[in-house]
Amino acid sequence: MPIEISVEKTKTPKTQPAPDNLGFGRYFSDHMLLCEYANEQWGQPRIVPYGPLPLDPGASVLHYGQALFEGMKAFRGEDGKVKLFRPQRNWARLTQGAERLAMKAPPEDIFMESIKKFTQVESNWVPSAKGTALYLRPTLIGTEGFLGVRPSNNYLFYVIASPVGGYYGEGIEAVKIWVEKKYSRSAPGGIGAVKAGGNYASSLLAAVDAKKKGYSQVMWLDSSQHRFVEEVGTMNVFFVIDGKVITPDLGGTILPGVMRDSTIQTLKMMGKTVEERKISIDEILMAQERGLLTEVFGTGTAASVSPVGQLGFEDRTITINDGRPGPIARELYATLTDIQYSRKADELGWTLEV
Ligand code: COI
Repeated sequence: MPIEISVEKTKTPKTQPAPDNLGFGRYFSDHMLLCEYANEQWGQPRIVPYGPLPLDPGASVLHYGQALFEGMKAFRGEDGKVKLFRPQRNWARLTQGAERLAMKAPPEDIFMESIKKFTQVESNWVPSAKGTALYLRPTLIGTEGFLGVRPSNNYLFYVIASPVGGYYGEGIEAVKIWVEKKYSRSAPGGIGAVKAGGNYASSLLAAVDAKKKGYSQVMWLDSSQHRFVEEVGTMNVFFVIDGKVITPDLGGTILPGVMRDSTIQTLKMMGKTVEERKISIDEILMAQERGLLTEVFGTGTAASVSPVGQLGFEDRTITINDGRPGPIARELYATLTDIQYSRKADELGWTLEV
């Protein structure tokens, strides 16, 4: 069946926020895209004015947490063109997540056409100030009203958009991260490798506790020994030790970030040695004591490349590179954002013009 996306334009367009202080996720654009799955098939997507969703109070998303989301950005290049960054990877991850949560994901053509058309319709919402983008939030929820514990028969795939600046602030700023030992994010065989809303719900208490101590986010360790690093709140994490870049390998408990993969490929192109392997907090502390830990940084769609200036662990505080962004994080940020904002040729075909 050919995909035909209908568009109902809003009659009351919103006033757009000033581009210099967007923050993250505070504003929503004028429209949203909706596409339903029922009777074992996907219907046609439609773009309608942004607004509340009609939802059965018995919907499986509300009771049993059948909810997945993606995060992706549309960038306005210096040539004025709007480009998405590696959108197929988001579709692939949504599909894997749907499999794990026994949900139905939209097929690739519906996902891709929906994202492209929606971005075109909202293109006046793609900001052009430095470091800004239109953040897209594709979301998949179980909508059937039924209280027995089994997968929903009905789903809603929807996309909303938010003009954003930096996640932590403007530009590339070093953040403070708390290494969490009390709570766990993910366990082997669990859902840590997929972008389930529940993973974020279970992370909130630790994040609130870390905030009270003055940290922006938490760094998660493995759930059985609390020794090996997994990821940071909204980012995958990289350590530069003795000139080598080390990031935890994906063992089924870590989110396979689109920016993580892009970072590994970019670092290799920059001539860096990258190791994907287990890295313990003891190894990090020892490297710090010997003066070999020169940089720590996180990567994510929302967070871009975020250097970590300080790690708090038990009663210790570790300051990295005097709390300032290091040279590898800076070069990586410049290289990736040059591709995203069309300042540099996209040799790997990562961007998609809409
Ligand atoms: C993203 O980087 O897109 C994320 O999903 C992080 C988000 C939860 C803020």
